[in-house]
Amino acid sequence: MEKSRKKFTDIIDKAIAAANKMDRDELLFSYKGILYPIAFCSPEVFRAMESLEARSDDIILAGYPKSGTNWLGQILSDLVAISEKKIQNEESSMNDEELEEFPYLEMGDTGKYERMNKLPPRRIVFTHLLPENLPSSIFKNKAKILLLIRNPKDVATSFYHFSNGMSPLPSYETWDDFFIAFMTKKMPWGCYFEYLSKWNKYADDENVMTITYEELKENPVLGVKNIAAFFGISLTEKELQTVVERSSFQSMKKNSQKTHGAFGNILFRKGGVSDWKNLFNEDQNEKMDKAFEEHVGGTKLGAKLKYEVYCKA
Ligand code: A3P
Repeated sequence: MEKSRKKFTDIIDKAIAAANKMDRDELLFSYKGILYPIAFCSPEVFRAMESLEARSDDIILAGYPKSGTNWLGQILSDLVAISEKKIQNEESSMNDEELEEFPYLEMGDTGKYERMNKLPPRRIVFTHLLPENLPSSIFKNKAKILLLIRNPKDVATSFYHFSNGMSPLPSYETWDDFFIAFMTKKMPWGCYFEYLSKWNKYADDENVMTITYEELKENPVLGVKNIAAFFGISLTEKELQTVVERSSFQSMKKNSQKTHGAFGNILFRKGGVSDWKNLFNEDQNEKMDKAFEEHVGGTKLGAKLKYEVYCKA
């Protein structure tokens, strides 16, 4: 476990060191009309990604940046560890080889997908990509996808702080500057409203389960139970409690030096709901309310986000 975590933190540390030597306008590149950080992604890797052979027992976690992907990643890896342990009859449950790949699909080197094709089940893969930019085998081979969404005002708030703490992403002198960039498609991994509207087309697929950050925060026991059921993993009450406890914000933050290294201090910020109220002014509220209505109003994902509850001033 520690060996694989070291690989994880090494990749982040290297990206940070590389970005520290770059100018702000060199940090992002565009691929198929979407911006990505050059310290983590590349056109060559995007092209190589198509060679991934997805499997029906793969666990795909899809979420826009800052939706809580590391949180859900913790839950999923514990669930898989528990189920492996049962399959392997209480023997060692962790699969070092599997964890050795950087969990975000689109980040890594060109050889990553050939190595992933050789990994034993069950593979856990995170991604911030739009559905149309995922390897086609994910849909063809019916890999199960957990789609994680978060209210857009907290996503923007979290992204703002993250951008100012992570050198591979362009930083912003003011929140107002960031807000304009967020609303005008200047974000790495694209526009969140487009993300929601594109993923909405998959929201009714039987291989896709949607969960919101807010519902998981409100009732983590139910959330973890539903996620486990979706992936066909059975849990005892005690195992359920352990997964919930290990994935609480406090536990993850406390353990973050070990799991995420120095990056943990940037990632585990507040871990709550409604921090946007500390940043948004009236005009920004109105602009975002309008954009949400235009892109996501009346859709299944829009309803699931409960915008009226979580985003109205
Ligand atoms: P904040 O910046 O609002 O605190 P991602 O992992 O997709 O980058 O998302 C990061 C956001 O998820 C951050 O939000 C982070 O604090 C929050 N987060 C991480 N672990 C969490 C947990 N266990 N419970 C709740 N939120 C968590």
